[in-house]
Amino acid sequence: MKVLEPCTLVIFGAAGNLSRRKLIPSLFRLESTNRLQERLVILGCGIEQIGQEEWKNTVEKMLQQSHPQGVDGDAKERFLARMHYHAIPPGDDKAYARLQALLVSDDRFPPNMAFYMAVRPSEFNAIIENLSQVGLFKENGGWRRLVIEKPFGYDLLSAQTLQRNLYKHLDEPQIYRIDHYLGKGTVQNVMVFRFANLLLEPLWNHHYIDHVQITHSETLGIEGRADYYEGAGALRDMIQSHLLQLLTLVAMEPPVTMDAEHLRDEKVKVLKAIRPITQNAVHAHAFRGQYASGNIDGKAVPGYLDEPGVLENSTTETYAALKLYIDNWRWAGVPFYLRTGKRLHENSSAISIRFKKPPQDLMRFTRQGAAQPNWIMLGIQPDECLKVEMQVKEPGLDLHTRSISLDATYRKISEEDFGAYESLLIDVMLGDHSLFLRMDEVEAAWRVVDPIIKVWSMERDFINTYQAGSWGPRGTYRLFDREDQFWRHSLNLDGADLQAY
Ligand code: BG6
Repeated sequence: MKVLEPCTLVIFGAAGNLSRRKLIPSLFRLESTNRLQERLVILGCGIEQIGQEEWKNTVEKMLQQSHPQGVDGDAKERFLARMHYHAIPPGDDKAYARLQALLVSDDRFPPNMAFYMAVRPSEFNAIIENLSQVGLFKENGGWRRLVIEKPFGYDLLSAQTLQRNLYKHLDEPQIYRIDHYLGKGTVQNVMVFRFANLLLEPLWNHHYIDHVQITHSETLGIEGRADYYEGAGALRDMIQSHLLQLLTLVAMEPPVTMDAEHLRDEKVKVLKAIRPITQNAVHAHAFRGQYASGNIDGKAVPGYLDEPGVLENSTTETYAALKLYIDNWRWAGVPFYLRTGKRLHENSSAISIRFKKPPQDLMRFTRQGAAQPNWIMLGIQPDECLKVEMQVKEPGLDLHTRSISLDATYRKISEEDFGAYESLLIDVMLGDHSLFLRMDEVEAAWRVVDPIIKVWSMERDFINTYQAGSWGPRGTYRLFDREDQFWRHSLNLDGADLQAY
């Protein structure tokens, strides 16, 4: 088993959004549950010229924001004692040399170092080149790791260019590409559910499964991120990364072992088996939309075009839905429907698997209503759950059937799970790549969406809209192969909103 070694975690963009919202709170959570290595030191880097005490105050404020109910005083003291700051003001050529001198000459900083790029992708290259020039990627006396966050480029070519730049300075085992979805316990549970339960394996294929739906819906809009989102859109932002990752976990073959390379080999095989969407088939396989104004939780919200920073006639999609086929032995002919959107009816991420109907409908004369297929549903967030829908006989003299939901909600009230970043940060420090993306995985995912991106970027004069607070544009129903397929909005049995639009 790998053990945590002393290490220096260097965070670029330490005062920025990602650091404030995710990294610092997650590191603190690890601190307060005693998961951090005793000699872990956290060095924040940023453009502001501030002193050590001021940085500690900033971190304290971040903790106040992330834990409005207050934090444990001892844990806070321990955490602040790990904090250091180094300023890299724009245009200061000597800042990296000073950083190098600090890190190698001051023995408070352990020589194992992880560099976390919590900055805009456009800043990656310059920082990496500077770190390389001052020799901070050379592994003398300790390991050196680089952590980067999606987006890895904006299409296949740009991802490959970014990669070539990384390879000039680093080897693949030094690179940790984060898709934070893989850090979510409920996402990892997809693998446990499949590979620790023999019961499902015989059913997990095209003989029994009618189709698979993977949904991520959000009530939030773009939250002031127009500068990023205008160039990204829902397809790049969510589907190329998070939803395709979920698809690989549902569809992959059992890996030889749970080691990073075996796991990622199987995921890549799935991505490579996805039937390429030719440019003239894009409309049959993909649907996009953009939110118009509407109501979310009883409050009026503006449409996308009225968000600050959005171009007046922007056709950037805030909703994207896709139908994919995996052309391999297990999944031949089974559609995988993926959808995501901002300003939708509710926050929810789930995988819903619909089974085929029995080969003979023996209950057709006694049943009331249409035959109901079995579903297996894995709730990712906010409800972590596992539900199986089956048919039973209703009590009484007649052979009437009804659907029941076997609800195996597995988290006990007293059990608290860790967030995605807690688990990923620990894995970086342990040197475990299992939950990080390998470059061939990133490339294969871009190959899936690239043709759609091309067609959509040429069609700039029209985009379907949907009312904020709804379940998205109506036209997405044309993606379904048959009339009895429909978006599953709710994981509950009440059925009321099963077919609701
Ligand atoms: C990010 C996207 O990667 O994932 C955001 O850039 C999205 O647009 C977010 O809101 C969703 O992540 P989570 O963990 O909140 O479901």
